[in-house]
Amino acid sequence: MTIIAPSILSADFMNLGPELKNFDNESNLWIHLDVMDGHFVPNLTFGATVLKNIKKYTNHPLDAHFMVRNPEDFIEPFKNIGTHNFTFHWEAVTHHDSLISKVKNNFDSCGISLNPSTPVEVIPTYLLEKIDLILIMSVNPGFGGQKFIEGSVDKVKQLADIRSKKGLKFQIQVDGGVNQQTAQTLRGAGANNLVAGSFIFGESSDKYSAQIQKLR
Ligand code: DX5
Ligand code: ZN
Repeated sequence: MTIIAPSILSADFMNLGPELKNFDNESNLWIHLDVMDGHFVPNLTFGATVLKNIKKYTNHPLDAHFMVRNPEDFIEPFKNIGTHNFTFHWEAVTHHDSLISKVKNNFDSCGISLNPSTPVEVIPTYLLEKIDLILIMSVNPGFGGQKFIEGSVDKVKQLADIRSKKGLKFQIQVDGGVNQQTAQTLRGAGANNLVAGSFIFGESSDKYSAQIQKLR
């Protein structure tokens, strides 16, 4: 089943505990945490200090998406809040292989994210064999509620093709502008993990489950 990862960027920050409780009865769900540093992207969100009690409010795996210039600095603090998946941006890093090893030593899952303008080909096969997830950004990272970039679908197809030809297991996650229509296209293209912010949190909390169901 497709994993759905609600992005708390669009949640009510002043009410985050109860917002998370709304997902208690869902399965195959990750909580997507958008960490932005105001440098890699023109927006600033939260770090581990703000999220340190997040595990009290959810049992779902925490999925951290680092839109930061120095992702390595976030290993220690996010390990301490019990993060499941650690995704860093390919564009922010020089020594990818070494960072993947450090992430794998500290987290269950390591992801690499590609900006819309970064082609799939930048990641060599030997690294695809090491990682657990590729995140295809389908908007320019930084903000929720943006329009889906159609070219992302081809990148998902390309990755799904490589994955099946080489017998690899990494998840294909897509983030940005995911709604009922784009989700259907993305699932058809081979994505199995969809991040959604405004599509879920744009509705009243009694509709979150229904929105998740539509994405699946
Ligand atoms: C954007 C973030 C996304 C964002 C998606 O840079 O990485 O996770 O919350 O929001 P929507 O689903 O509204 O496009
Ligand atoms: Zn994200």
